[in-house]
Amino acid sequence: MSRLVLVSNRLADPRKPAAGGLAVALGDALAASGGLWFGADHEVIEDGDPRAGELRVQRAGRVTLVTVKVARGDYERYYRGYANGVLWPVFHYRLDLAQFDAGHMDAYRRVNRLFAQKLQPLLQPDDVIWVHDYHLIPLAAELRALGCQQRIGFFLHIPLPPPLILAAIPAHEWLMQALFAYDLVGLQSEADLNHLRSYLSSEARAEVFSSHRFGAFNRVLRAGAFPIGLDVDAFAALTQGAAARKTLATMREQYAHRRLLVGVDRLDYSKGLPQRLRAIRTLLERHPETRYSATLIQIAAPSREEVDAYGDIRRELEGLAGAINGDFGDLDWMPIRYLHRTVARNRIPGLYRASAVALVTPLRDGMNLVAKEYVVAQDSADPGVLVLSRFAGAAEQLTDALLVNPYDTEGTAEAIRRALVMPLEERRQRHERLLAKIRRYDVHWWSKTFLDSLLEAHP
Ligand code: ADP
Ligand code: G6P
Repeated sequence: MSRLVLVSNRLADPRKPAAGGLAVALGDALAASGGLWFGADHEVIEDGDPRAGELRVQRAGRVTLVTVKVARGDYERYYRGYANGVLWPVFHYRLDLAQFDAGHMDAYRRVNRLFAQKLQPLLQPDDVIWVHDYHLIPLAAELRALGCQQRIGFFLHIPLPPPLILAAIPAHEWLMQALFAYDLVGLQSEADLNHLRSYLSSEARAEVFSSHRFGAFNRVLRAGAFPIGLDVDAFAALTQGAAARKTLATMREQYAHRRLLVGVDRLDYSKGLPQRLRAIRTLLERHPETRYSATLIQIAAPSREEVDAYGDIRRELEGLAGAINGDFGDLDWMPIRYLHRTVARNRIPGLYRASAVALVTPLRDGMNLVAKEYVVAQDSADPGVLVLSRFAGAAEQLTDALLVNPYDTEGTAEAIRRALVMPLEERRQRHERLLAKIRRYDVHWWSKTFLDSLLEAHP
């Protein structure tokens, strides 16, 4: 059997908790199969430090983790400047937040080249290489330039926007042409795949051989939608674990007379957190019976604080939560409990299970694993209700959730009210159908389907 080599900017130790869908999903996939996981070292190396480019090798169970040290200046321009200052906002349809700077793009290329130079000597001829996410789009092109002939697949964890949004990126042609160095490109949803197809035919003048095969630049690119899933059994086991049960018991005791709503997100402008809080305000205004009876616990993990837009969203959220609590709260009740932190992964299922409603309302999201986790953590005899943004990739699969447009404050407030009063029988039916989908398309299905397609795609 070929060895699996994963490459992503951020690695997670599969034994430690991590916030972020990519680390969580890959940690689960690799822990099962063993192999090599290559990425950036997050120790800061000052510019000029001779250790730049050095590798650190660690073992984590059956997985070998290899990280490369990148000098501070280049890392900042690559990660903060280009990946999170251009690609993340544009791919989430937020041209208003993108800050284009040619120097950042050069550093992005340089760091991808460094990754390729350091990875290439570690590769074996029949390795299968699977590159992840927007930080590393040109990696296969750099590896091919060094002579790599191995199978290389790419999975984009974030959305792919329509062609005219992508085309706002200076040098978008270079970026998208780099995809042709992969044997297979995976996207989260059919909507993303449609955008790739229309970009390739309109902007790259590619030949469309079929709905999944395109020709341009003397290469054939295969692409498909592979919605990422959960390790359902592991998450269900976590739900039964001591930490989750203790959290559930504590929450039930503390909120014995209240209905809980829950939100668990990285603090990111794509997650629709201000819109969510405005919907809560509207709910409290329009439906006074929800006052004193419902509390939103919103956990927002600190994320990318070195990027300006993240400081702005944090201040906006704190202002909104404070204002709602100030206007509606009382000595013995606050409508919103807002925590700016990462919660231990083994406690999260207890929080989900204690909550009658989950609010997963991103303005745009590649998939959103929180939606799936919430469903898995429920008691199927008395499950909670998932309120889900139609703009999350998960909405293509989870059609039995209450789907909302997060920009529509009244509509979202109404869906939350409906979730709070939904009869048991309807909750059960919806939950059963959601869980069946999530089980069928779990993380094992995802990695197996992608890797099988990659093997077929390789010429
Ligand atoms: P993203 O990849 O954009 O962060 P996802 O919803 O796909 O969004 O994945 C988020 C993952 O990180 C989930 O597994 C979730 O449980 C975890 N997570 C998110 N926020 C927190 C938090 N505040 N504390 C602990 N874990 C979190
Ligand atoms: C999302 C991205 C990942 C990223 C994660 C956490 O899940 O798709 O690539 O690792 O967010 O973000 P960070 O910038 O902290 O790695």
